[in-house]
Amino acid sequence: MELADRMKKIPPYLFVELDRLKAEKQKQGVDVIDLGVGDPDLPTPEPIIETAKKALENPANHKYPSNRGLLSFRKACADYMKRRFGLNFSPETEITALIGSKEGIAHFPLAFVNPGDVVLCPEPAYPVYHLGAILCDAEPYYLPLKWENDFFPELSKIPAEVLQKAKILWLNYPNNPTGAVATKGFFKEVVEFAKKNDIIVAHDAAYVELYFNENEPPLSIFEIDGAKDVAIEFHSLSKTFCMTGWRIAFAVGKEELISALAKVKSNIDSGAFNAVQEAGAYALNNLEELVPPLRKVFKERRDFMIKALKELGYEFLEPEATFYLWVKTPNGLSSQEFCKKVIEECGIVVTPGNGFGPSGEGYFRIALTVDVSRLKEAVDRLATLKF
Ligand SMILES: Cc1ncc(COP(=O)(O)O)c(C=O)c1O
Repeated sequence: MELADRMKKIPPYLFVELDRLKAEKQKQGVDVIDLGVGDPDLPTPEPIIETAKKALENPANHKYPSNRGLLSFRKACADYMKRRFGLNFSPETEITALIGSKEGIAHFPLAFVNPGDVVLCPEPAYPVYHLGAILCDAEPYYLPLKWENDFFPELSKIPAEVLQKAKILWLNYPNNPTGAVATKGFFKEVVEFAKKNDIIVAHDAAYVELYFNENEPPLSIFEIDGAKDVAIEFHSLSKTFCMTGWRIAFAVGKEELISALAKVKSNIDSGAFNAVQEAGAYALNNLEELVPPLRKVFKERRDFMIKALKELGYEFLEPEATFYLWVKTPNGLSSQEFCKKVIEECGIVVTPGNGFGPSGEGYFRIALTVDVSRLKEAVDRLATLKF
């Protein structure tokens, strides 16, 4: 059987060799510390689980969900957007539930992108932006995110002929893997750029609640005047409430964008489980009580790791959000060389930066998804590394 051409365009999985080394170490009985996966180790807060348990017993929830999700869930999303960002969105027309934001991110281009069109994709990045483009036979055009530009893309450098064919610009702030947070100035530039070039801005805000500076929480792109004309934003409950396995998220934006995404979805999936939506609505309605304790745990880990890595001489920008540290590899090692060495000599898994795109070369990513005592153990082991 011959795979479709688009499948052949999907780049090879770069972590094969590291996965093999990890499995080998575990087989040898090494106590491997995994700082690779971006999946929170903390359990979902108990009241969310209790809400889901009750919702499970309601037979109305055993039926097919509605296409855009329960109105009660969408109202909770709209209330959250209002409380958190001061923004008004109609739960009826401007919000749709998603089965995790990955699902929405992968499907959204199908609504607006034709074969041969261009999708502007930052790199290093979460891979679904460019994979979604490839799966609808479009051309990803990569926008390097560099340390010297605060990990913002240089929009003015995109050639005119690329802009003519570009339909969507993907952005993700707070950013995985770099930890960068968008400024109002940058988002303003983005909105102007999108209007001028007639491009949709698709902003992935999966980490918008995982921040450490209470005085300056990360922005929604809709806080910029005029953004609603050009943008759609993807929000996820996965990282915010440690609910990655539940698969619940939402997209928000003007009706034209949301109804197009909902139309694609109505022909592919049958919506998120209603009981999960009820739990999600509870979570969003109680975010101000539920999330600060989780944030506190990640901040403790981040503060510990920042101090310890600095003492070991590692170079990185201190992240104000996300549970990632994006660190330069020491001694001029490539990302792969360093990550292999760290597994082999310390039994620690970290993610090679080049796995997120070529501009990630020379970096590695640490996910703060283990507790401080494990981080301490990891630091003690890193201290023994010899170059
Ligand atoms: C930047 C970014 N966006 C989106 C997602 C997907 O999250 P979910 O599908 O769980 O909502 C992830 C998951 O790792 C991510 O890192």
